[in-house]
Amino acid sequence: MTFASAIDTRQSPDECLASGEYPLTRRDLSEIAAMIYADAGIYLNESKASLVYSRLSKHIRNLGLKGFREYCTLVASPAGAAERREMLSHLTTNFTRFFRENHHFEHLKTDVLPDLLARARNGGRVRIWSAACSDGQEPYSIALTVLSLMPNAADYDFRILATDIDPKILSLARAGAYDGNALETVSPAMRKQFFREVDAGGRQKWQVEDRVKKLITFNELNLMAQWPFKGPFDVIFCRNVVIYFDEPTQMKIWSRFAGMLGDNGHLYIGHSERVSGEAKSLFDNIGITTYRYTGKSGGRRA
Ligand SMILES: C[S@@+](CC[C@H](N)C(=O)[O-])C[C@H]1O[C@@H](n2cnc3c(N)ncnc32)[C@H](O)[C@@H]1O
Repeated sequence: MTFASAIDTRQSPDECLASGEYPLTRRDLSEIAAMIYADAGIYLNESKASLVYSRLSKHIRNLGLKGFREYCTLVASPAGAAERREMLSHLTTNFTRFFRENHHFEHLKTDVLPDLLARARNGGRVRIWSAACSDGQEPYSIALTVLSLMPNAADYDFRILATDIDPKILSLARAGAYDGNALETVSPAMRKQFFREVDAGGRQKWQVEDRVKKLITFNELNLMAQWPFKGPFDVIFCRNVVIYFDEPTQMKIWSRFAGMLGDNGHLYIGHSERVSGEAKSLFDNIGITTYRYTGKSGGRRA
């Protein structure tokens, strides 16, 4: 990937773009932006200076470093490889919610799942991918929607793959234990049926039942890297992540999703995202940020 940086360090590289305990200079931000783009496709420009500052300054203090300059030198060095992954964890935004953008789950339930569940009952294979699943609330919402229609779905060849780049957030997803306020968007009936209250070190949590977890496989996956599977998927949820990528990267991702979807497969994307570029002709936009793969131009399986 080539990185067309929006941060021009030919102009005043030492100018401070955000400060508090330490200054964050244009050069620091430019180096951090180049690394995060190379590692995760995440595109930062100067408007993100205070975000970078707030996400990293405390961490830099905890590491006992003198400031951003020393931190940049560390993460760019071979000895800083683990810290570079840690930086990615700090800079990714993990906000999510159960049944976020609920119209997707309604559409899944009424327009998509009936055929998929019938196929599974007849011995067919069904695959759903939650790409960028954060702490699991998205794939668990998918699983709850499936189980509300077919309580024994796990007995069939029906699986949900849930992936994210961030191993820390994935371990929360695998654990599936949430604070009560995270469950505000889960109906009381579903709460009762699919969660149990547990004491997590003196803190009350809501634990997803094993029969929900059984439907889901959690794996670490960087959307920018090779994908170690061929599909086809019947449904892909990729919501509120490509918004952090630049336009050329987004266009490539849409084409890759097209290559992963089976005939009439569905793609759900985030509220401020749109399928763009060549892949646009491969999809019908059938609802709010809801697409059906039609494969019109025939150039599939990227
Ligand atoms: C804002 S959350 C979205 C979660 C969920 N899809 C939703 O809409 O509620 C974005 C997630 O994308 C993940 N992410 C960022 N860059 C990624 C990449 N290159 N590959 C895979 N996941 C990535 C982050 O770790 C984070 O968990």
